[in-house]
Amino acid sequence: MAQQTLTITDNRTGKTYELPIADGTIKAMDLRQIRTSAEDFGLMTYDPAFMNTAACRSAITFIDGDKGILEYRGYPIEEIAEHASFLEVAYLLNEGELPNAAQLKKWSDEVRYHTYVHTNIIKFLEGFRYDAHPMGMLLGGVGALSTFYPDAKNIEDPRCRYAQRVRLMSKVPTIAAFCFRNLHGLPYEFPRNDLDYIGNFVNMTFSIGGKHEPNLVLQRALEILLILHADHEQNCSTSAVRAVGSSGVDPFSAISAGIAALYGPLHGGANEAVLRMLDEIGSKDRIPAFIEKVKKGEGRLMGFGHRVYKSYDPRARLIKKVAYDVFAQTGMNPKLEIAIELEQIALKDEYFISRKLYPNVDFYSGLIYQAMGYPTDYFTVLFALGRLPGWLAQWEEMIGDKEQKIARPRQIFTGPARRPYVPLAKRG
Ligand SMILES: CC(C)(COP(=O)(O)OP(=O)(O)OC[C@H]1O[C@@H](n2cnc3c(N)ncnc32)[C@H](O)[C@@H]1OP(=O)(O)O)[C@@H](O)C(=O)NCCC(=O)NCCS
Repeated sequence: MAQQTLTITDNRTGKTYELPIADGTIKAMDLRQIRTSAEDFGLMTYDPAFMNTAACRSAITFIDGDKGILEYRGYPIEEIAEHASFLEVAYLLNEGELPNAAQLKKWSDEVRYHTYVHTNIIKFLEGFRYDAHPMGMLLGGVGALSTFYPDAKNIEDPRCRYAQRVRLMSKVPTIAAFCFRNLHGLPYEFPRNDLDYIGNFVNMTFSIGGKHEPNLVLQRALEILLILHADHEQNCSTSAVRAVGSSGVDPFSAISAGIAALYGPLHGGANEAVLRMLDEIGSKDRIPAFIEKVKKGEGRLMGFGHRVYKSYDPRARLIKKVAYDVFAQTGMNPKLEIAIELEQIALKDEYFISRKLYPNVDFYSGLIYQAMGYPTDYFTVLFALGRLPGWLAQWEEMIGDKEQKIARPRQIFTGPARRPYVPLAKRG
């Protein structure tokens, strides 16, 4: 077998170094020995936006972006989306294996019985303006939960971490539903522990006067969407949870950092942007002109392109199917017709083909959420609910990883060289 090493010659000094290769990587720290003099700090890598740097080992989610493969703990997303419940997926991501019936019952019961939040959280949420963006409320609300559970700081204790996991899985949907009610000026609907996870959440959002007629097809569609969002390895928000969590802060604070990252339009906010884009296009005959604008660099085709997937995002394929199930219940939406046509045109266009730009998870998800009755501002909150088990699993994995330390990237300093302080009176 060929030697698993990399030989590097530093042409500045003529010296040669042999670095081990493991798991298709070299250790960035192994480069530090490459220096021109004893005073030289040593060679570093420069990798803005982590385009080619593995920051951790992870056994949770596997993605092959070129082949369009996504697996949770080895199980293909297609099979999981068809057969599993969201709580089953949350268990799988966090515990590493699918639960047996007794384990699933215990886990579901625990999550079901912790859905209430301290009433002061309600007072806190009431302090937001009537038009507060629900993601701002969610990240504030989840961050505030840390002050209600000071024991959560005990992150060294696995039993304590488990308890926080249960709390977050139970209470984040409650806070998320309260944010929805705020958006509509409706009184908060309290959790009902006789309902299942999705049924309770839907009830807390849509119940009026204590009444809500559940539509099981729409509930399953929502559950599938949450499953499809449950984890996606080291994306921006997950990296935020890991980076903030690496400081040793409690999981409520680390998760609220993930929510903040998800808030951004290039991450979780993209499905919101897709709907705005479909509104802007307005009708099918205006699609070619829109595509031309995008190709000229005047805006992006939202819901297209992905840092990792360079072929059809497998989640987008599944979501497209869910869209048809949902629209069969709610009636066809003209925006869906524009989206389908837009996709067909873009998939045949050289600009998108050459850049490997395909629909991503957000291309259809916004349309589905809207059909279910969720307003555009709320879509990212639903994404956060879906991603929560993934954030928790990644946080747990990070805590147990002996190779990890507090996250602290290096920089290339580009500022001025050392200079003396100029007193105010002498400044021009
Ligand atoms: C997701 C995204 C941020 C990934 O970005 P990235 O990996 O950094 O890719 P880049 O921005 O380097 O783009 C590579 C090329 O494709 C083009 N491109 C990428 N996404 C595009 C899009 N949605 N529409 C039009 N052109 C796009 C870029 O302009 C660039 O072209 P160039 O090489 O001529 O300059 C990007 O594709 C995007 O902005 N998509 C729209 C937002 C979205 O749907 N986000 C949800 C992600 S799940």
